[in-house]
Amino acid sequence: MNPRLIKDGVYWVGAVDWDRRLFDELIPLPDGTSYNAYFIAGNNKTALIDTVDPTMTNVLIRNLKLLNVKHLDYVIANHAEQDHSGTLPTILDLYPDAKVIATPKCKDLLMDLLLIPEDRIRAVKDGETISLGDKTLEFIHFPWVHWPETMLTYLREDSILFPCDLFGSHLATSDLYATDEATVYEAAKRYYAEIMMPFRLIIKRNMDKLSKFNIDVIAPSHGPIYRNPNFILEAYKDWVYNPPKNLVVLPYISMHGSTKVMVEYFVSALVERNIKVQQFNLSKTDVGKLAIALVDAATVIIGTPTVLGGLHPNILYAAHLISALRPKIMFASIIGSYGWGTTVTQQISQIFSRLKVEFLEPVLVKGYPREETFKALDKLADEILRCHEKHGLL
Ligand code: FEO
Repeated sequence: MNPRLIKDGVYWVGAVDWDRRLFDELIPLPDGTSYNAYFIAGNNKTALIDTVDPTMTNVLIRNLKLLNVKHLDYVIANHAEQDHSGTLPTILDLYPDAKVIATPKCKDLLMDLLLIPEDRIRAVKDGETISLGDKTLEFIHFPWVHWPETMLTYLREDSILFPCDLFGSHLATSDLYATDEATVYEAAKRYYAEIMMPFRLIIKRNMDKLSKFNIDVIAPSHGPIYRNPNFILEAYKDWVYNPPKNLVVLPYISMHGSTKVMVEYFVSALVERNIKVQQFNLSKTDVGKLAIALVDAATVIIGTPTVLGGLHPNILYAAHLISALRPKIMFASIIGSYGWGTTVTQQISQIFSRLKVEFLEPVLVKGYPREETFKALDKLADEILRCHEKHGLL
């Protein structure tokens, strides 16, 4: 896509990656993504904010040529991850006078990851500014969105915040702006769940830093730009600050149907108690959908059979993922069937030990579920209801 004008002297010059389906060889991208870079022309100097993934270097270079950019003074590196910094070496070759602007930590990472010479990078302090003439860039250190070295850049005269990964969405679209808010909300929530949620408490601590800025536009480095910043700021307030909702997330696997019978009974029992449920068959589900559900969940119930004495490998993967994403969940338990012995409770307790969750009595049955199994499932549903009521979630 060609350069697109955002405000006078401010252009989107990034690349839309319609075909990418996996990020970091881990995260599914059902809707592709974009690597947004921005060119800013002041009346004295010019700056490029972030670059693009190395696979799209030619797109960025073409866009700068279309804008007839012959000289670049600064390349702002908000984040050292390669989807934004990977084209830096090529840009620095093309524009030999350009200086990279980054936090001190980002400077180190760029030297390590991309072998950029030290004298091409200038480290900036939190709150430091750079003048482009009639435009001023202010740098806001904002660690862990998504690595420890990250910062945001604020363009004062145009009230535009360039937050790089923060507030982004993995969404390939021809829309420059977030006009289809329902689609963008889903993509931004998935992105938050997978990229930002593990750092929720740090984000919470730093969010106040933004309150002193008058923000008209938020221009992240993935997905569409927000002309209505409140749309994404309010969404983040809900995801980051608000307590979890009256929701049970139930990832499960069933090999011969016994665990599935328990899952289906249990889901009905929860629904009868006015508790919302999202169940995910892990042999079929997109783990991104599971991650989205975890943003709001108060309780996670794992449904697992026992394989070779322990958790089914898909459950093991999901449990590690849940633990790594650090959702706001408060309660957890396990339901499932085993043949002759099981260690699933010990395994889940160990994997979830970094989460501050209260474990409720598991319901594990030898073989096929029977009347007492269903009674135990009702008891667990009652217990969840009590816990959710106690915390004012109903
Ligand atoms: Fe979009 Fe953390 O990179």
